[in-house]
Parts: sequence; structure tokens; C-alpha cells
Amino acid sequence: MSLAEISLRQALLQRRTVRDFSNAAVPLQALQRLLWAAQGITGPDGNRTAPSAHAMHPLRLYVQAARVAGLDQGLYEIGVNDQSLRLLHGSDLRPALAAAAIDEQPWIGQAACIIVICADMVKPAQAFADQRPFGRRGVRYVYLEAGAAAQNLQLQAVAEGLGCVGVGGFNDEATADVLGLGIPLEPVMQLCIGYPAVSDPVVAD
Ligand SMILES: Cc1cc2nc3c(=O)[nH]c(=O)nc-3n(C[C@H](O)[C@H](O)[C@H](O)COP(=O)(O)O)c2cc1C
Repeated sequence: MSLAEISLRQALLQRRTVRDFSNAAVPLQALQRLLWAAQGITGPDGNRTAPSAHAMHPLRLYVQAARVAGLDQGLYEIGVNDQSLRLLHGSDLRPALAAAAIDEQPWIGQAACIIVICADMVKPAQAFADQRPFGRRGVRYVYLEAGAAAQNLQLQAVAEGLGCVGVGGFNDEATADVLGLGIPLEPVMQLCIGYPAVSDPVVAD
């Protein structure tokens, strides 16, 4: 049985935050499966693997690739409808992302790749502005949706034999600057990914 075929219960049992990564590269296909788990389109109406209030789908994904076999180093924007990887520039932004973190978080600089969940914060805030708590409900929904996407991704990481740490502790403005985000986009969570240092990589087929 390949690791990609483990049961949901097994994935839930095995999910653990991993902060120590090996130098092994992550296959591009595994990265694409992680992206699909987070926000893949699963219905003709455009709905996704993660639910979304009013099907507004405010989440946007970015990838900093460092050691991804089959993908050049760089920052990529993920296509909303086709999950394509569009290269924004070829830099290694991990040191800058680590510098923008709250406290020392060396795993940001050591991850094979980082998937950053960002979100359009303005549209949901406006859409739910007339519901109490005024101005906050839309933002709350974005965080709930980001949590669902992050959990999907982390369970897929288990199935791939990959380690992952979700980093929410960062300076929002500094991180947005590193990624080149502008209004209405804000970073919500970083998923730092790599094969765990303690075990040999097992590549799912
Ligand atoms: C919203 C959120 C933010 C988090 N932020 C960080 C972080 O900034 N740095 C970090 O190393 N871990 C972070 N974590 C991971 C937690 O520390 C971790 O989930 C917790 O210690 C429990 O361990 P487990 O995931 O292995 O069950 C975060 C987790 C969540 C849910």
C-alpha cells in the first residue's frame, strides 16, 4: 500500500507538527496534491475540497519552492481555477519569511517548500458587514476557511510521508511585503513542508 492510500483515520492519527526537515526534494506531483487538497475544485459549480461561506472562495495560495524536484526555485502564484503554478520571480524568499516571523522559527528557512494561504479580506468583510458582529463576521469566516484548507493540506502531507508545520506567528505587514501582496490580499498561514529529518523519504507514487 502506498502512503497516498492510507485511510483518513490513519492520517488523522499520524498528523503531527514536524519542524525538522531533511534535505530531500519534494516531488512536484506531491506538491500539486497538497495544493489540490487545500483548494482543489471538486464540482461543476467551482466548489472545492474545503467549504466556503456563500461559496465566496476568498483564499489564494502562493508557493515558495526551494527543493521541489521538477520545479525551479522561486515564488509562484497558484491559479484559482486550474491550480497552475505561475512564477512571479526566482528568488529564495525563505530567509525573508523567517525574518518576518514572530520569534526564531528556523524551520521556515529549512523547508523544501512553503505554501502560503492568503485571502481576500475585503470581499467577505463587505459581504457580511450587515451581520453581527459587524465588520468581524466576514474576517472570522476567512480564518475558518483557511483552517479547513490547512487541515486538508496537512492530512494530505501525512499521506505523502511529508512533514509540515503550520506557521501563524508572523508579522502580517512584513510578510505581505515579502510576498508582494497588496490590498485586498493578506497572508493568513504558512505551511512549511519537507520530508522529516528523522526518517528516509518515502515517495508516494
Ligand atoms: C493557528 C495556528 C498557528 C500556529 N503557529 C505556529 C507557529 O507560528 N510556529 C510553529 O512552530 N507552530 C505553529 N503552530 C503549530 C502548533 O504549535 C502545533 O499544532 C501544536 O504545538 C500542537 O502540536 P501538533 O500539531 O503536533 O498536534 C500553529 C498551529 C496553529 C493551529
